[in-house]
Amino acid sequence: MQYTSLLALAATAAAQGVSKGFNYGNVFTNGAPKQQSDFEAEFNRANSLPNASGFSSARLYTMIQGGTTNTPISALQAAIDTQTTLLLGLWASASSEVFQNELDALSAAIDQYGTALTDLIVGISVGSEDLYRVSVQGIENDSGLGEGPDVLVDYIQRTRSVIANTAASEAPVGHVDTWNDWVNGSNSAVLDAVDWVGFNAFPFWESSLENSVENGNALFYNALSAVEGVAGDKPLWITETGWPVSGPTQGDAVASVENSKTFWDEVGCDIFNNYNVWWYILRDNNASPAPEPSFGIVGRDLGEPLFDLTCPSGSNGASESGASSTANGTEASGDAQDSSVAEESLNTASTSSNASTAAETPSNASAPESTTSGTTATFDLDLPSIMKALPDIVAANPQIVKSLPDIVAAHPKLVKELGDKDLAEVASGLNVAPAYVDMVKDAIKEHKEKSNKNVDEDCED
Ligand SMILES: *[C@@H]1O[C@H](CO)[C@@H](O)[C@H](O)[C@H]1NC(C)=O
Ligand SMILES: *[C@@H]1O[C@H](CO)[C@@H](O)[C@H](O)[C@H]1NC(C)=O
Ligand SMILES: *[C@@H]1O[C@H](CO)[C@@H](O)[C@H](O)[C@H]1NC(C)=O
Ligand SMILES: *[C@@H]1O[C@H](CO)[C@@H](O)[C@H](O)[C@H]1NC(C)=O
Ligand SMILES: *[C@@H]1O[C@H](CO)[C@@H](O)[C@H](O)[C@H]1NC(C)=O
Ligand SMILES: *[C@@H]1O[C@H](CO)[C@@H](O)[C@H](O)[C@H]1NC(C)=O
Repeated sequence: MQYTSLLALAATAAAQGVSKGFNYGNVFTNGAPKQQSDFEAEFNRANSLPNASGFSSARLYTMIQGGTTNTPISALQAAIDTQTTLLLGLWASASSEVFQNELDALSAAIDQYGTALTDLIVGISVGSEDLYRVSVQGIENDSGLGEGPDVLVDYIQRTRSVIANTAASEAPVGHVDTWNDWVNGSNSAVLDAVDWVGFNAFPFWESSLENSVENGNALFYNALSAVEGVAGDKPLWITETGWPVSGPTQGDAVASVENSKTFWDEVGCDIFNNYNVWWYILRDNNASPAPEPSFGIVGRDLGEPLFDLTCPSGSNGASESGASSTANGTEASGDAQDSSVAEESLNTASTSSNASTAAETPSNASAPESTTSGTTATFDLDLPSIMKALPDIVAANPQIVKSLPDIVAAHPKLVKELGDKDLAEVASGLNVAPAYVDMVKDAIKEHKEKSNKNVDEDCED
């Protein structure tokens, strides 16, 4: 009845609120810069993987097209053409001048593409594993040029200045690093400076521990809990994880296609649709021999995946039909959200949503979990569950607030049918912050103002 459309709205919000995709370098293994057509082929492959839908987000490491000084990377046009969302990256381990080139490319791209680009931006990362490379282990491993916390904080401020008063001003700015470096107290200034925490973890490399693939899930979640422990109210995004399909053994960790699938099933399928995830990696070579180890889940021809990507039924990453069979809206009555936290996160917009509410939701939880595990599943839920899930959805992706009017636009009957009174009634007694109710109301109002005509037409059928 009248609530049905809001369910659709919230389902869409949930689907749009969580990003899922891969990491993409700007050069091939032979050093050749990737061109727009190369990015396009990779993005299209990611978005059409057999038995794995929705891998439509791309994390980049640099804003600069390979082989140029500061020309915006051609991945941007490829993303616009394929409607791939973007976690932009600015390379931060070179020099202040080179970082300025990154900022110039970012600025030029915003001017050139406008909202066609900025609507796709999930976030901006200042740097990638820079702290790891200056850490004890990074230096021992000869991992190359890194950067310390003070410089990164300065770069983060410079990035904020560049996007201020542009169409990208709402993009949350973060940093990506290996999990150990986030829990290193000497780096806390970076933690303080970011809007979100980019988390990289590879149990495969943790050869000082029992790191067989059987223990991969446990090591991964140990790392995740450790970083969630220090991240406080900052959303945690899983920016790199994966298991190699080939290459030398590290401790107990054996690189193989079979183990790569095990890690995909046990870790990937648990985090997909639950956290923002950029898997490492779709393709990591275009030349023979493959890099060692090789993490690519498709070969250099971008052909069929090396293993069946189907997620185990009942997992978060399972297909919509699988998920809907386990979703049970009537069970959706988990613990009430902390409404003051929720409200605070909304009031402070993208800069301080408390993701721990979303992130720490056990994957077997009912209400919020179901809303993030697939569109079909969510249609089984009732309105109270949706209202309760909204804070989690917003915490996982603050930008959702911006797209709510568009989501509403996709469900015109909802706009017609759902009065303010219904929303308020539903929200009362649920311990949902009024700010969230207002958010939905505002979205409906904004949409109504924009397109009254369409609404009337749509509701006649
Ligand atoms: C902790 O971080 C500081 C600053 O980035 C770094 O110099 C130090 O090596 C790190 N400690 C370890 C054990 O890696
Ligand atoms: C880095 O060094 C540690 C020991 O210091 C080792 O266990 C690990 O495999 C190395 N990682 C890489 C990527 O070489
Ligand atoms: C974030 O929310 C969780 C769960 O409601 C709460 O325990 C934690 O204290 C909050 N963190 C901050 C910094 O508000
Ligand atoms: C997709 O799943 C089906 C059904 O489980 C399976 O038969 C097929 O081999 C899978 N396709 C690929 C390319 O893995
Ligand atoms: C859904 O939840 C209700 C209430 O907890 C329960 O009675 C019902 O059996 C559940 N249905 C399924 C299919 O699990
Ligand atoms: C979900 O529940 C199953 C069965 O109780 C359990 O084996 C699994 O570890 C749980 N998953 C999580 C992430 O808690």
